[in-house]
Amino acid sequence: MAVTESEPGVAPAMREAELAPLAHEGILRRQSARESAARTYARALPIVPVRARGLTIEGADGSRYLDCLSGAGTLALGHNHPVVLEAIRKVLDSGAPLHVLDLATPVKDTFTTELFRTLPPGFADHARVQFCGPAGTDAVEAALKLVRAATGRTGVVAFSGAYHGMTAGALEASGGASDVRVARLPYPQDYRCPFGVGGERGAELAARWTESLLDDPKSGVPGPAGMILEPVQGEGGVIPARDDWMRRMRDITSARSIPLIADEIQTGVGRTGAFWAVEHSGITPDVMVLSKAIGGSLPLAVVVYRDDLDVWEPGAHAGTFRGNQLAMAAGAATLAYVRENRLAERAALLGARMLAQLRGLAADFPCIGDVSGRGLMIGVELVDPEQPPEPVAEVDAQAGSAVGGPRPAAPDLAVAVQRECLRRGLIVELGGRHSSVVRLLPPLTITDEQANAVLDRLSDAVASVAAAPTALRERGIEHGGHAGYGGSAGRAERAEWAGQAAAR
Ligand SMILES: Cc1ncc(COP(=O)(O)O)c(C=O)c1O
Repeated sequence: MAVTESEPGVAPAMREAELAPLAHEGILRRQSARESAARTYARALPIVPVRARGLTIEGADGSRYLDCLSGAGTLALGHNHPVVLEAIRKVLDSGAPLHVLDLATPVKDTFTTELFRTLPPGFADHARVQFCGPAGTDAVEAALKLVRAATGRTGVVAFSGAYHGMTAGALEASGGASDVRVARLPYPQDYRCPFGVGGERGAELAARWTESLLDDPKSGVPGPAGMILEPVQGEGGVIPARDDWMRRMRDITSARSIPLIADEIQTGVGRTGAFWAVEHSGITPDVMVLSKAIGGSLPLAVVVYRDDLDVWEPGAHAGTFRGNQLAMAAGAATLAYVRENRLAERAALLGARMLAQLRGLAADFPCIGDVSGRGLMIGVELVDPEQPPEPVAEVDAQAGSAVGGPRPAAPDLAVAVQRECLRRGLIVELGGRHSSVVRLLPPLTITDEQANAVLDRLSDAVASVAAAPTALRERGIEHGGHAGYGGSAGRAERAEWAGQAAAR
C-alpha cells in the first residue's frame, strides 16, 4: 500500500483539470492580505488543502503531504474517514434538523450513550453532561464556572506550561497568561524539571509544593474552586504526567474537597494509548472537559461532571450552538470506531515503537535534547548543541535522564526542521514553552508503513538541519506552533515574514 491515500473514484485527469483554476499562489497571497495577523498554522504551512483522506492531504498545486498535525489532534481517524462521512450523510439524508439548540434528538441520544459508554468506570454512573459552545475553550469556561458555582469559591489552581484555550478564563489558567489571577503550581517534567532533578523525585517535590501552597494560610493562595490539569501537556511541550503524580493530585484534591478537572480535550479518544488519559493512573476526576476528537472532525465540546456538582439553575450555562447534529453523528461514529477497533491499544503500541526509534535518532543528533510522549502524542525537543547543558542538582536514576541538565531550547532549529519536513511532504506542529518541540499527532489509524515514512522524513529533515544549522537559520524564521505558545518569533522576524509574504 502506498503511504499516501487517494480519494476513491476521483480520476487524476479530472483532478488536475479541477485544481488548475484554484491558483494555489493566488489563494495564499489573498489569505496573507486579508486574514488577521493572529493566524498561526497558515504562516508555517503555506499549503492550500483541497482533498484529504486518512493521513494524506493534497494541496491545490497537486503536492501531497502526510499530515501529522491532524487538526491539532482532532482527527482521531484521520481526514474523511468512511465511517465519519457515512454518519454525516445519514443525518443529511434523513431530513433531521441540523440546528436544535439543546433539544433532545435521536442523534444526540446516540452520541451521549456512546460517550458515557467510554467514560472511566465509576465516573459515567454518576455523571452529567453539559453541551457547550463549539470549541474546547468553551468547555473549559463551563467547567470553571461549574466548580465555582458548586464550591462557592472563586480561585483556581493550574499548572506551569498548561494550555486550556483562548477565551478569558481558559487563557488565565494557561501557562502563557500575563494577567494572573490563577495560582500556578509546578507540573513535573524530566527534561526541564523546575527542581533540577526530574523523575519520581521531581514529581514528589512538585506535589509537596502543591500541598504546601494549599495548606499554608499565608501562601497567598486561598482555597480554590478547582484544580485543572492536562494528563499530558500537549501545547506545553508533550509532557506526560507520571501516573503516581496524577494519583497524588487526586488524593490532595479529594482530601481538601477541591474538584479536580481533567482537561482531556487533546488527550482523549485513544490518543495517549488509553481511551481517556486519566485511565493510565486509574484516577476518577470530578470533571472532564472534552472536545477535538469527540466531534469526529466537526466542532463539539462538552463538560462531563459528577452529578453532585450539578448545582446549576436552568440556563446557568447556555449558548446557541450547543446542538451540532452533524458533529454529534460524526463524533458518535468516531467514538464507536475507536472503541470497537481498539485504537487506543494500537496507539500505545505504535507510539512506544515510534518513541523508541526517535530516541535512537536523538542518540545520533545532539540537537535533539529530548524525546517525550505517550501513545501517538509525541514531541521532539530541539536544543542548541553548541551550548553546554545546564547544571542539575541531581539526576534521578529512574528518570533515565541524560547526564547533565537540558541544553537551551532552539526554536529556530525547530522551525527549520518543520520547514524541512514540509519540503519532504510531512506536516508537523511546533509547541512547547519555547516553541522548540516538533510535535507528531498522527491519526490513530496510521499504518506501520506510514509511520515508517513519517519517521524517515522527520529523520531526514533533522539530519539536513543538523548538517547546516546556521544556513538554515538564516533562511527566515516564522513560528509555526499553536496559538497558545505562539509568541516566540520576534517582532523583526514577523515583520520580515510579512514582507516576504506580501511580496509573493
Ligand atoms: C488541552 C487543551 N485544552 C483546551 C484547548 C482549547 O481548545 P479549542 O482550541 O478548541 O478552544 C486545547 C487546544 O489545543 C487543548 O489542547
